Amino acid sequence: MIILRLQQIRDAQRFFEILNNPNFHYFGSQPESVEAEIAWLEGNEKRFSEHKEWNYTILKGDDIIGGIGVKINQHRSYIGEIGYFIDEAYWGQGIATEAVRLLEEICMQELRMTRFELLMLPENIGSEKVAIKSGYRKEGLLQKALLHKDGSKRDCFLYAKTL
Ligand SMILES: CC(C)(COP(=O)(O)OP(=O)(O)OC[C@H]1O[C@@H](n2cnc3c(N)ncnc32)[C@H](O)[C@@H]1OP(=O)(O)O)[C@@H](O)C(=O)NCCC(=O)NCCS
Repeated sequence: MIILRLQQIRDAQRFFEILNNPNFHYFGSQPESVEAEIAWLEGNEKRFSEHKEWNYTILKGDDIIGGIGVKINQHRSYIGEIGYFIDEAYWGQGIATEAVRLLEEICMQELRMTRFELLMLPENIGSEKVAIKSGYRKEGLLQKALLHKDGSKRDCFLYAKTL
């Protein structure tokens, strides 16, 4: 059983530990330091109040085991793009799939969203499985749409679910 709560600045150390993992091959960004993570988390209040991004911490009991967030389409507020990461120690337990379900609930109730999108590199099998298990359908391959951590823009799958 997991719960989502809004991210807090005190989550920085734990997020840094989870994200600073060489096995996160396909994740777009990794903080360079705890200080960089703190700076990023400090921006969450503005992102939230301006309805740009709502970012949550995934908790199992008192333990922080990942993060999930939604980017709210700035022209069509009924569309949200969801992104997530889970501590490797917890992979394969259905955590990301459950977190997507919980975030969709929040987005439907509080933002009246009716379309959710997930983008992932074609090599990111784990993320693609989350999309399929969550009832998303593949809509295509977006060319050079994902900014990778090496600075290149990569083709990615677009998966979506509509209500
Ligand atoms: C992708 C990710 C979020 C999946 O989290 P998870 O909690 O393991 O997801 P779930 O258990 O709900 O389902 C994922 C499925 O893919 C599998 N899987 C998870 N990570 C995998 C990996 N690195 N490679 C291959 N398969 C993987 C799981 O075993 C599970 O399989 P199952 O359905 O047969 O049980 C996690 O691997 C992660 O944080 N990766 C690094 C960050 C990342 O890539 N985020 C997504 C960016 S688009």
